[in-house]
Amino acid sequence: METTEELAIAGGDPAVTIEEPEEWERPVQKETEFVAELLEDGEISGAGRGLPASFEAEFREYTGAEYCLTVDHGSTALESAFYAVGVGPGDEVITPTAGYIGAYAGALHLGARPVFCEIDPETLLVDPRDVERRITDRTAAIAVTHWNGRVCDLDALGEISDRHDVPIVEDAAHAHASRWNGEHISSVGDIACYSLQGVAPHGKPITGGEGGIVTTNDREYYERQLSYCHLHRTGLNEELTREPYTELDYEALGLKYRAHPLALAIATVEMDSIEYRTRNRLSYRDELFGRIGALPGVRPVWPYDRSETDGLYGGLKVVLEPDELGGVSPQRIVEALEAEGAPVRGPGFPYMEHLRTIFREGYDLWGDGRSPIQGEFCGLPPYNGYQEGDFPISEEINERVLTVGSYIEPADGYVDQVATAFEKVVGHSYCRTESRTD
Ligand SMILES: Cc1ncc(COP(=O)(O)O)c(C=O)c1O
Repeated sequence: METTEELAIAGGDPAVTIEEPEEWERPVQKETEFVAELLEDGEISGAGRGLPASFEAEFREYTGAEYCLTVDHGSTALESAFYAVGVGPGDEVITPTAGYIGAYAGALHLGARPVFCEIDPETLLVDPRDVERRITDRTAAIAVTHWNGRVCDLDALGEISDRHDVPIVEDAAHAHASRWNGEHISSVGDIACYSLQGVAPHGKPITGGEGGIVTTNDREYYERQLSYCHLHRTGLNEELTREPYTELDYEALGLKYRAHPLALAIATVEMDSIEYRTRNRLSYRDELFGRIGALPGVRPVWPYDRSETDGLYGGLKVVLEPDELGGVSPQRIVEALEAEGAPVRGPGFPYMEHLRTIFREGYDLWGDGRSPIQGEFCGLPPYNGYQEGDFPISEEINERVLTVGSYIEPADGYVDQVATAFEKVVGHSYCRTESRTD
């Protein structure tokens, strides 16, 4: 479908004219009233009772998880989960390079070495086969991220976990409403960590400004977390039923990562609309992908068919095939789409973890050569550092992946305008002939 309409990048009219595409409104009034109520009652501290306890009960019921603990960030949720599964100095934790430092920083700071792996180019999620290839007798956990709500292959990962007796720590920062085989992810895996960071509608699927949640179905993991970072939680010592945690003093291990009740008030209000917002984002995705997926050179990234969720946070992913786009670079396509007013970012993942300076060059984390990512450390072999080319699949996809905005209540005609922008750019002679000048 060739078009001759002038591209906006060349001075034509942009395809997208709607400037405020999101019409869903955050229930500010309800949030304000709930926060004010807690302020008036002086309920702005505490855990294991009051609102923190009722939020945890509500999240358990929503997800089907056996245990739930609220914390102050997604990052600390993850750190405490790594502690819970037994990650410590001299261990290795496998995680995808097309990932995020926040997903495994907790393990690094507990003294473990991140070992990067490839992604599955179809779903852009951790590749279970590559994970298995990298398991050693030092591997203490596999850290996976359900990017944008797309769920990693929990069946394959579960089999690997059982075969090697290595736990999976799920970074579910984007995946509060994600399901696998029809069940909420929290009721499927061993331990899942959520973030409550940001503000709706653009923040995490449930937000409270800052905050985090851990769910688990494993009593041992639950008690390890309680003892690690829930200082002065009401009922903490009564909840610890297992050795050696029952032997701990009142203050347990002394860290305090508890969630702020005011953040949980906002998150409680957001729980009311999570299913509605998810359904609507999925309809938006289906409509947009239905249109742009028909174009040559544009491959919408769908989740595995055992998971239906996507675009819940951070947008939708699209991979360009330059061979089918007259060899035009993904960078030029993005520039042309941006000029049309389409909500696109890229090309590239936000991060390629192995290329961060600390992982290329190593880093003396605690000084005096005491570091899991420099030299030898607690039985780890010498740290060699990573370089470009170490992860050919992830690095190649990184060159041509785009992020496209997703919406809950898009303004009338918006999805059509965005799809038209893609049709205009991809269908233009710009992408079809050698006549352009880039
Ligand atoms: C993939 C991913 N993991 C972990 C986190 C950490 O969550 P928080 O910001 O609540 O610490 C985030 C937050 O941006 C994230 O996007």
